[in-house]
Amino acid sequence: EKGNYRHFMQKEIFEQPIVVAQTLQSYVRPFEGKVALPDFDFDLSTVNRVTIVACGTSFYAGMVAKYWFEQFARVPVDIDVASEFRYRQPVLEPGGLALFISQSGETADTLAALRHAREEGQTIAVVVNVPTSSMAREADLLLPTHAGPEIGVASTKAFTCQLSVLAALAANLARAKGRLTEDEEREIVEHLREAPEAMNQALNHDEDIAGMAHLVAPARDVLYLGRGPDYPMALEGALKLKEISYIHAEGYAAGEMKHGPIALIDDLVPVIVLAPSGPLFEKTVSNMQEVRARGGKIILISDAKGLAEAGEGCVATIEMPEVHPLIAPLVYAVPVQLLAYHVAVAKGTDVDQPRNLAKSVTVE
Ligand code: M6R
Repeated sequence: EKGNYRHFMQKEIFEQPIVVAQTLQSYVRPFEGKVALPDFDFDLSTVNRVTIVACGTSFYAGMVAKYWFEQFARVPVDIDVASEFRYRQPVLEPGGLALFISQSGETADTLAALRHAREEGQTIAVVVNVPTSSMAREADLLLPTHAGPEIGVASTKAFTCQLSVLAALAANLARAKGRLTEDEEREIVEHLREAPEAMNQALNHDEDIAGMAHLVAPARDVLYLGRGPDYPMALEGALKLKEISYIHAEGYAAGEMKHGPIALIDDLVPVIVLAPSGPLFEKTVSNMQEVRARGGKIILISDAKGLAEAGEGCVATIEMPEVHPLIAPLVYAVPVQLLAYHVAVAKGTDVDQPRNLAKSVTVE
């Protein structure tokens, strides 16, 4: 079933352009230039607050979505990991939308959080990959991802499919809130349609990235930095590396570096920076300079423009295509997945079945 691939995770990373395209088919009407959602009996324009709850990688997809919902739809968003949400007595106003994100649809904490939110009078939206799962059955608004079965314990294709659905949901919400002109909507549809091809271009760097594994494999600690939606992407990059290579890794908002973690930096610490060119780029570059001044070894993931400006002095660079901010997280997911994968292969760990981890966490 792995075909020519060595591991399921590798196969699933490479499947992403196809499954993202498949998923997006249900959420865009390209000829009309419109985003769309499955039919349900609910008026998105009434949503005054979204509460997002998930675990692990699905939680990071939710964190990216928070930036989008706020930026495009101007709707306030609250987000938490399910294990905290269900016990912290969250204040949920009647009529709110609670959004649960899960590959399996069976994660115990997320399911319990969903039931709690229902008791508190929330409308339940679920982004889920397994259509027969408990969460799918209990949803008012079912938003399926079409990633197909994900076998590798480290989530990859389910994550980028979640991002695709969440981007479309952000656009739907923005339209319902009167924040999107027809032209803007058409543009978003175009950008979403470009995502699979941009992900293909990112996958073309597979061999270069394999060649960088030796920069990370010997490290004891690795930092991932990003700003805006690239901050949750940094968290996701660090989680992927931890899970399958067993190297301690942390993701940080680049601006938080000087509030503590910079103390860790020396010439043994690789620092992976995710920074597409754009309004936040200069800020991240100055954080990179702080790292470099302390001997940190930077691997910069950016587009041609960003690399021309800030690539010098990095131990390695990975060039991403220049893309709209809405699809950047889908594209930047690819190099962080590949880097984690190749480092794990270099270390000889069990990539598809990492120690201590289960694919679906059905106990608390
Ligand atoms: O099935 P779910 O999306 O609810 O699972 C949530 C987490 O357990 C999951 O994302 C986990 O963090 C993965 N191993 C990440 O690669």
